[in-house]
Amino acid sequence: MDGGSDHAYAAAACVWGTDPEPLLTELASETAVEGWQVLDAGCGEGRNAAHLARQGATVRALDVSALALQHAGELWGDVPGIVWERADLRQAELLPDHYDLVVIDSVFHWLADATDADQVMRRLRATTRPGGRHAMCVFNDRRQELEGHQVPPRFIPTHAWCLSLYEGWIIETVRDETIVSSHPGAPKPHGHSVTKLVARRPLATR
Ligand SMILES: C[S@@+](CC[C@H](N)C(=O)[O-])C[C@H]1O[C@@H](n2cnc3c(N)ncnc32)[C@H](O)[C@@H]1O
Repeated sequence: MDGGSDHAYAAAACVWGTDPEPLLTELASETAVEGWQVLDAGCGEGRNAAHLARQGATVRALDVSALALQHAGELWGDVPGIVWERADLRQAELLPDHYDLVVIDSVFHWLADATDADQVMRRLRATTRPGGRHAMCVFNDRRQELEGHQVPPRFIPTHAWCLSLYEGWIIETVRDETIVSSHPGAPKPHGHSVTKLVARRPLATR
């Protein structure tokens, strides 16, 4: 299966860059992630996995794309603490109550629709230990300049829908920001509105 980015992975050796998502640098500067068990769900070429592993976390970096994982191996093969795995988030084996942090960066808008996303989110919530966190970035419908995209995202939710995924969790950070990007598959600079949030599973309930 193609997770939506294989055309870009085929065109360049590094599509998403090597800098980690700022949400994660903020989290790792405020909270020691050393010793954490992390799931990078849809890791792409591994920029976030590598950052967290370098801070001492143990990272399971999972992506459906063989090309993404090939790039990741070439970029970060020497970084210890990462296990790369080719798997689909809809079927991957996930232990219950396990991860201290689940990273979901720019993946949900590649799922088919809200039903698909709800099902994946149920699995990702269940694999998070009580007190563990999710760090999520997902395109929202406020502003999307998609004209130049060879393959447009499949599912663009509202900011409110993204927040509703974490009902009963503690929202530690939330913002709706506009990023400007350019990359293989959409080389002209263009804007995307993105919901970025860090949510924490309460200790007592799911
Ligand atoms: C836009 S890239 C972002 C990669 C990385 N998270 C980052 O921020 O650099 C989205 C990634 O999600 C992967 N993906 C999409 N659907 C997936 C699924 N169902 N299971 C696993 N990975 C998936 C794609 O293959 C792609 O590598």
